[in-house]
Amino acid sequence: MKNTIIFQTPDELVQATAARVVEIAAQSIAARGVFSLALAGGSTPRALYKLLASDAWRTRIDWQNTHVCFGDERAVVPDSDDSNYRMARESLLNHIDVPPQNIHHMIGEAADLDAAARDYEAQLRALPMPLDLVPLDLVLLGMGDDGHTASLFPGTPALRETQRWCVATDVAPLEPHVRRLTLTYPVLNAARHIFVIVTGKGKMQRAQAVLQGPRDIEKMPVQGIEPIDGELVRMLDADAAALL
Ligand code: 6PG
Repeated sequence: MKNTIIFQTPDELVQATAARVVEIAAQSIAARGVFSLALAGGSTPRALYKLLASDAWRTRIDWQNTHVCFGDERAVVPDSDDSNYRMARESLLNHIDVPPQNIHHMIGEAADLDAAARDYEAQLRALPMPLDLVPLDLVLLGMGDDGHTASLFPGTPALRETQRWCVATDVAPLEPHVRRLTLTYPVLNAARHIFVIVTGKGKMQRAQAVLQGPRDIEKMPVQGIEPIDGELVRMLDADAAALL
């Protein structure tokens, strides 16, 4: 399958992905003076973030010229165990010299999530970007075992959003955190590079359905990740790819 790379172990996947992130950062900054990165939430990317924050890697990206965004956030406070922002802070952001003003986290704790979504879109639109209006150089995404990505969940209205870049979404009863903020296909698919990272046997059935089954975005939203002009790479470990 084109755009799909299978790694023997999660560690090999993380090492290769980190090297590619470094390359894209350098290319973006050389070309446009800035690197804009959207982080995935959940647990899969934690190992990648920890590697990028390690002594051997932390200086390989020019974090001073990097803007860090998020693909989604749960409607929880930043110190919640379930906050994607907290996971990113602890595994990456607290260990690199990215300027605080360059970290754009979603206000999941907002009383008015729709206003928070509109505010986040305004932040994205204010990012330094060339006239082609591509705000994100690299988007990191995961995939849930139901085929969701970011917080684009099966059967939810967010899947049909064609204008707004960020929306509040209600994913009940699919997930424990029913209210969320998520980037939408218009801004995700405008990215220059998109990596979808999937590991573990728990994902193998869904990975087979997504990669080899019929296209059905309503049921498997990750299939809707189709960059307009950019690069899509799906990165799986052998466990997640066991049925391919
Ligand atoms: C979230 C994530 C979500 C995640 C998948 C996979 O907020 O939950 O953004 O899209 O990438 O649910 O999660 P795991 O990596 O924990 O399997």
